[in-house]
Amino acid sequence: MKEISVKYLTTSVEKTVWLGQQLGAQLISGDIIALIGDLGGGKTWFTKGIAIGLEIDPNNIVSPTFTLVNEYRGGRQQIFHIDLYRLKNNIEILDLDLEDYFSREGIVVIEWADRWPGRLPESKIHVKLKMIDEHTRELEFFGNHYRAKEIIGALKEIAGRNLKQL
Ligand SMILES: Nc1ncnc2c1ncn2[C@@H]1O[C@H](COP(=O)(O)OP(=O)(O)O)[C@@H](O)[C@H]1O
Ligand SMILES: [Mg+2]
Repeated sequence: MKEISVKYLTTSVEKTVWLGQQLGAQLISGDIIALIGDLGGGKTWFTKGIAIGLEIDPNNIVSPTFTLVNEYRGGRQQIFHIDLYRLKNNIEILDLDLEDYFSREGIVVIEWADRWPGRLPESKIHVKLKMIDEHTRELEFFGNHYRAKEIIGALKEIAGRNLKQL
């Protein structure tokens, strides 16, 4: 299937959070959000936005450390927040049974998703965050699964009215 994509510029943390919230509001169980981009790109702030969209307190969202995954409940869907920044080797993925999260009821958000060994499930939606300057980030959404098409299509409707689309 052909890839669909859209790019936005956010000029503040709040705008990145807002965009995350618009995405979060679309999500249903089984969706996988693969975040990529450098340290300080805004992946964790964007994840807080996703949490707001799922009616989860964003203050609970912190980067998982030792276990590489945090679980947040109490919202419309639970979030499994994986962060591969501290991934030491690929065995850890197996040891921690991270793959199991893809078949759980809930939403999986992965920071540093490009460090995932092998292939992520087809249904993933990629968000690539790029640092433009101190307060500006470029967020590119892409994917080729039908869920990516639905979600990116909806984002274009909502976000296009409020943010600069590139
Ligand atoms: N437009 C923006 N969107 C998101 N974060 C921004 C933006 N402008 C500046 N920042 C800063 O960039 C940093 C992003 O941090 P974080 O979300 O933890 O990044 P990552 O998880 O990608 O390493 C924060 O210090 C935040 O204040
Ligand atoms: Mg982070």
